[in-house]
Amino acid sequence: MKISIGCDHGGYELKMEIIEHLKERGIEVKDFGCGEGEKCDYPDIAFPVAESVAAGEADKGILVCGTGIGMSIAANKVKGIRAAVVDQPTSAGLTKEHNNTNVLCLGGRISGTVIALETLDAWLYSEYQGGRHQERLDKIAAYENR
Ligand code: RB5
Repeated sequence: MKISIGCDHGGYELKMEIIEHLKERGIEVKDFGCGEGEKCDYPDIAFPVAESVAAGEADKGILVCGTGIGMSIAANKVKGIRAAVVDQPTSAGLTKEHNNTNVLCLGGRISGTVIALETLDAWLYSEYQGGRHQERLDKIAAYENR
């Protein structure tokens, strides 16, 4: 599995914990920045990460800012992206099972590392259920393509 990841200055520390966590699990990670001590605007990171997922260059994307909210707003502007901000494992699993989210947004100033990594794992290792959920995603895609 390949994952694109990025953060702003509010998410840098959590992003680095996530990268280590993913690499320990044998997952290939491409880091789109920002780097340590840099200050950046979340859309400048969210767009290239989301575009890499939409283009099929990565299987999934992870975005971390202070709350995860700005990243999710920006990522959802990219066609084909279904991004969700979650802060606990139950919602994380359900957003994969029901919404087939391809980008997960986390808040570096919201969750502690342990909960954030449990939330990430719940998303990573859940499966999309399809069926009735696909009809709803088709409606979103039709709106996006209208
Ligand atoms: C940056 O200070 C902060 O606004 C950003 O990380 C994020 O929380 C926005 O949604």
